Amino acid sequence: MSGGPQEELEKLGLEWGGLTRTKDSSASRHLHLWITRAYFPSLGTRACGEECLFPDCPGTLTHRPHLTDSKDREGADFSPEDWHWRGRARCGRRALLAAVAWTAGWVLAAAFLLHARPPGLPERCSDQRSRQILAALCRDYLGGVLMGDLCEDLCVAGQLVYQRCLYYERGKKVLQADWRGRQVILKSKKEAFSSFQPLGLLDEGQGVPEAELLLLVAGEVQSTLGLPLANGSLGLLWLGPRGPGWREHVASLWALLQQEEFLSLSLLRGLSRHVPPVLGSCGHFYAVELLAAGSPHLHALFPLGEAARARGGQAAAVGSIALSFLDMVQHFEQDFAHRLHLCDIKPENFAIRSDFTVVVIDVDMVFFEPKMREILEQNCTDDEDCNFFDCYSKCDLRLRKCGAHRINSNLQVVCDKIFRHWFSSPLEDSGVSFQLQRQFQEVVRECADPGDPAPPHRAAPSVFWKLRSLLKALVQEMQATEP
Ligand SMILES: Nc1ncnc2c1ncn2[C@@H]1O[C@H](COP(=O)(O)OP(=O)(O)O)[C@@H](O)[C@H]1O
Ligand SMILES: [Mg+2]
Repeated sequence: MSGGPQEELEKLGLEWGGLTRTKDSSASRHLHLWITRAYFPSLGTRACGEECLFPDCPGTLTHRPHLTDSKDREGADFSPEDWHWRGRARCGRRALLAAVAWTAGWVLAAAFLLHARPPGLPERCSDQRSRQILAALCRDYLGGVLMGDLCEDLCVAGQLVYQRCLYYERGKKVLQADWRGRQVILKSKKEAFSSFQPLGLLDEGQGVPEAELLLLVAGEVQSTLGLPLANGSLGLLWLGPRGPGWREHVASLWALLQQEEFLSLSLLRGLSRHVPPVLGSCGHFYAVELLAAGSPHLHALFPLGEAARARGGQAAAVGSIALSFLDMVQHFEQDFAHRLHLCDIKPENFAIRSDFTVVVIDVDMVFFEPKMREILEQNCTDDEDCNFFDCYSKCDLRLRKCGAHRINSNLQVVCDKIFRHWFSSPLEDSGVSFQLQRQFQEVVRECADPGDPAPPHRAAPSVFWKLRSLLKALVQEMQATEP
């Protein structure tokens, strides 16, 4: 690729399309209510949820005749009062029966869930399912439906071997595999190749003019990411020579182009040390390197490996990762023609390399400035309407429109969601002076919370430099105390 990052990205600049999505955090409640409805319709959860599970037990529920059947076992009608009175007498026995039924229901539901997934519930990440998905991919490859530089290794040579399932969510599949001795990740937004929109033009066979095809592909990229691509400048649009396999190649490229993450990763390939390069693809699956992913359940948020064992090693590692976060923030702010916004900052969307370089592994919610402006500029009635995950703007109450300008920054969210976790309590056994730690905590607080609710909202640039020099001092002190 010629021209370097600045020039290459100067060519970019239309909109990033179709990236909005919702994250459903109510899955467990949904599961609970679903099971309740499925197994205890007579217990009245239709109308009021968990508080009504024992409707005929006074104290739990009083008069709610609409929630239950108003006939007793013999079929005689009750008035609500009657129902209430009889309910009192039978409460203990019924409660016991209901509890037994409740437990049995959960056991049955769990057994059922192993085989059938009700709509709306996340699919279980399993080896069996993952192998089936890859087997279907290979069937399509061998059947001449799709192509890719990894297909031969995956489907014929046995050089790309499935290892384990990492993640299934909202159709997205993330699998770990061994590729010629190297651990990689296979990713796709959807499970089946057939779930992606086919390229209708391909039905016209090899006769379809190259220019028309290129226009269509470039249009798709442009509408998804907003990038006016110079012919072939990204390698991404390389349609290859006509001949055997050409149709499958273009069909596969078309499925990949429908995945915003693949497009962003391909675009940033070679331009950023904080983004993993795409290593290859087969059909709708693309491969990236396996990295040490973050998790909110880890004490240090990232798996530190050997570093965690040495005295003060863990704190020094955390300090190095924090410095890399700062480097990434600065890089995304300055090194491209447009500022790059991270709108979903949480440990699980980042990973570290062995040298503690921070890498963004989920780029679905990463937007260049023009797309960011387009996303933010929505109708609103208050400021809340202008919050897009971690990217905020303000509601102009007169125009009832959110400002296109993001009012917070990547640095601010990193301070709030990552640094605060690390540095809000004293670093144990780190050998860093109490005074330096206090100073650092104060700057992190200032960075995460710059004068809210009054303007300026955005962390001042000076905070970045204060953080950086304090972190460097911190890491130096910690390294000095290492045995
Ligand atoms: N390159 C990678 N190395 C290691 N783990 C990864 C990698 N990419 C994804 N993962 C794991 O898969 C999870 C889900 O991937 P992600 O792209 O964040 O999906 P989503 O867009 O649904 O949040 C991550 O949180 C991480 O645990
Ligand atoms: Mg993610």
